[in-house]
Amino acid sequence: MRVGILTGGGDCPGLNAMIRAAVRRGAIVHDYEFLGILKGWLGLIHGDAVPLGLADVEEILPEGGTILGSSRTNPFGKNALEEVPACEKNFSELGLDTLLAVGGDDTLGVARKFSDRGLPMVGAPKTIDNDLSGTDYTFGFWTAIERVMASIDNLRTTARSHERIFIVEAMGRHAGWIAGYGGLAGGADYILTPEESFSLDEILWSLRRRWEAGYHYAVVVVAEGAEWEGREVFQEDLPKDEFGHVYLGGIGFELSKAIGKALAPEFGRRAGDLTRHVVLSHLQRGGTPCAFDRILGTRFGAAAVDLIAAKKFGYMVALVGSSIVPVEITDAVSVTKKVDRDFLDLAQNFYY
Ligand code: F6P
Repeated sequence: MRVGILTGGGDCPGLNAMIRAAVRRGAIVHDYEFLGILKGWLGLIHGDAVPLGLADVEEILPEGGTILGSSRTNPFGKNALEEVPACEKNFSELGLDTLLAVGGDDTLGVARKFSDRGLPMVGAPKTIDNDLSGTDYTFGFWTAIERVMASIDNLRTTARSHERIFIVEAMGRHAGWIAGYGGLAGGADYILTPEESFSLDEILWSLRRRWEAGYHYAVVVVAEGAEWEGREVFQEDLPKDEFGHVYLGGIGFELSKAIGKALAPEFGRRAGDLTRHVVLSHLQRGGTPCAFDRILGTRFGAAAVDLIAAKKFGYMVALVGSSIVPVEITDAVSVTKKVDRDFLDLAQNFYY
């Protein structure tokens, strides 16, 4: 049995742990051979692959990123007429019996389409965004939370010293998992997520109350995809990736300016002195995985290979409660998993 593995979409900590576990489980328990497809679906379009043996994965557990490289390539995009047949031809020329696609909704969405066309695919969910349905957590998420929490802890001390308001922009286009969980873990004083639109007035109101209570500093966390009522964003002016997602960014800066403008005179501060913003950006995604992500990546890697052995094609591995279970890839990619109401209510408990 020859198994291809590819990693697509934004990289995340835990991918190498997953690759290592898949190769070891496959080679030792099932006697499978592995080919690493390079740079996600781009590698399948071009037939770029390398053999993956036990020695190749021996030392990669603590490394961030992915030894296979990644890209946001969509073979079903505007060049589908050439790229879909190219993938199918390379699948057969590389001698693959099956392919393990490791990714978020875009990469797994492509796997589902190939699966519908008859290629034997299995999947494993990864993304720091944790917005994939069917699984309680994706690996990469808890490392990102640790990074957001540590950043808030650091920013709070300088915020307190200078009596400032820090706006921390976290990743998360469609769901506020990173902003919400990172914010709660770091004790953020206000959290803004894509789940609920927000107005500037509600934040100003809360910050005024905090000042009145005697706490003359604050950390506000905003997800990059949070919806600010009345903010004009011209989506058509923004660059897009092959899956049609716009490149976000900038909401933290705008919010910092707006809060500074409204509150600096009221708080007796010079314009430009009261607020600062920090875009955490890819610091949330890079570097070594935390223990939870190493273990989840390892469990997913081994379980995905067991799915292949069980011939459960069209399925991906998922974490439900504390068990690893198979779920249909279709179910995982059809709905974005949002942060639930109870969690958002809990976060509000800590606002003024
Ligand atoms: O998909 C994960 C993610 O980190 C998103 O949260 C973020 O919007 C996006 O990737 C950034 O993508 P890129 O690395 O292509 O700039």
